[in-house]
Parts: sequence; structure tokens; C-alpha cells
Amino acid sequence: MPRPEVQAPPEIFYNETEARKYTTSSRIIEIQAKISERALELLALPNDGLPRLLLDIGCGSGLSGETLSENGHHWIGYDISESMLNVALEREAEGDLLLADMGQGLGLRPGVVDGAISISAVQWLCYADKSSHEPRMRLKAFFGSLYRCLARGARAVLQLYAENMDQSEMIMMYAMRAGFAGGIVVDWPHSSKARKAYLVLTCGPPSIQSYLPKGKGEDGAMCSEDEESDDDGNQTVGIYDRTRPKKKAKINKNGKGKEWVFKKKEQMRKKGYSVPPDTKYTARKRKAHF
Ligand SMILES: C[S@@+](CC[C@H](N)C(=O)[O-])C[C@H]1O[C@@H](n2cnc3c(N)ncnc32)[C@H](O)[C@@H]1O
Repeated sequence: MPRPEVQAPPEIFYNETEARKYTTSSRIIEIQAKISERALELLALPNDGLPRLLLDIGCGSGLSGETLSENGHHWIGYDISESMLNVALEREAEGDLLLADMGQGLGLRPGVVDGAISISAVQWLCYADKSSHEPRMRLKAFFGSLYRCLARGARAVLQLYAENMDQSEMIMMYAMRAGFAGGIVVDWPHSSKARKAYLVLTCGPPSIQSYLPKGKGEDGAMCSEDEESDDDGNQTVGIYDRTRPKKKAKINKNGKGKEWVFKKKEQMRKKGYSVPPDTKYTARKRKAHF
């Protein structure tokens, strides 16, 4: 079954039938609740029992937001699918719901939000569904507006399913360019089923706040849900500083030739990403475009 992201735009894919199917599946409810709890943990909000104002970006039918409400927080949910939001309304989700496209920016006043989560949604920005869609511009608009609306020192935790390493790097690059510090925390890296990647971003310059927690199961322990281990020795946590990449960096000048590309692809395969096969065209120098 192809990924939902390549089947149709989100507002079409999550139509009335799919929205109901998604929200009535006990397996999905359980998985999304667990991911949302972990995202909330990674947000590392002050432990003072005070309710915070949080965002749930790509809130869907309110499964992820429910975890925020259960923990006493107020939230604003953004989603592009009217059908998903209708189901959220029927389920009496406690958050304020906005029918909006995160790729056009969040449109909030600066510094008003205490934290943000996004569960299984941000990877959708990597796909161009309309001729006017340019994934890089949409990621820029999204991360720029997210950075602006968060209070200094606040975090955003985005759990996502990138299709490949290029997508992960592109998403991370636009987060860093917006000014975030942080990195990727991978839970259960050795399990094909339970592996989950969280982008943990802190608003403002690197500080004690931008310290990255360890991923669960990094020591080789297996998740109870998945007893098979199909991977070994992979790096599980990428730590990034708030550095703006130099424009037009030329990869080959750093000595990263074919061999380096083959090695990286092999690493990605071991991590379970779908990676195109190696061919004589792999890492071929491209002609300049005019
Ligand atoms: C897999 S669902 C997850 C829903 C919810 N976070 C949960 O945990 O159940 C992904 C959601 O992201 C939403 N989405 C995708 N692209 C979006 C965009 N550009 N702006 C806002 N929401 C988007 C979809 O409509 C869908 O409801």
C-alpha cells in the first residue's frame, strides 16, 4: 500500500470515510495516544501543574489533542482536512480548531504560545499537491511562523514519518534556518515497527533548554510491541546546533564522492528507509542548469 502522502492531497485523502475509519480504529487510537504522550514528555514543560497554551499542528480528529487536554493544557488545533475537523467537533475535542494549511504559516502573534506538538503530519509538507506548491517555500513559511509564535525557550516536538533521508534533512534544514536549536530523537531505533522519530526544537539560542533527551531503546532494548531486531549499530540521535547552512555548499569539494553516497545509502537501508537502488547514475555530477 503506497504512503497516504503519495495517494492524494491531505484534504482529499482524509475525506469523510477516511476520517471516520481513522478515528474508530482502536489500533490507531492507541498508537497516536502513545506518540502524543511521548511528544508531551519531550516538550519538557515546567513541572508546576499550570495549564499552558499549546498548538497541535495537523490535529486531525483530535486524537493527539486529547492527550493535551487530559494533561490539563489548552490547545489550538490546525488541520487542512474539514472532514477530520468535523469528526473532532463530533467527538467534542476541547481545543480550538482551525481549518488551515500549515504550509501557509500559522498566523499567530509573536511569542504567545508555550509549546507545540505535531503528530504524524509535517511530512505532508514535502509533497507538492498543486502547481503553486513548492515544498521548500512551504517548510520555510511553516517553521518561520512556528518560531515566531513560540515564547523564547519554548519547544516544539514534531513526530513525523519522513519517506527518506533527503526529506528528514530538508525538514531539519528549514527548522534550523528559522532559528531553532535542537535535533532528532529516535525511540526504538532497532525496531522496524515501533521506531519513531521526533524533531525536538527549541526556540531561541542553544541553552540548557536545547539539550536533547535520549531516545528510548537506544541501548539496544526492544519495545515490548516488537520483539524482532533487524538493525544494528545505527546512530539514533542526530544533534544539530543552530547553524545556518552556507548557501550553495558544493558536496564534492568536501571529498564526498560516490563511495560516500553508497555508504550513506546502505546506512539508510539498514535503518529501514526506502532508498533507490544503486546505479551507474548514483552520485553522478549534474550539469549546471540555465
Ligand atoms: C495522520 S493524521 C494525524 C492526526 C492527529 N495528529 C493524530 O495524531 O491523530 C495527519 C493529519 O495532518 C493533516 N495535515 C496534513 N497536511 C496538512 C497541512 N498542510 N496543514 C494542516 N494539516 C495538515 C491531515 O489533514 C491529517 O489530519
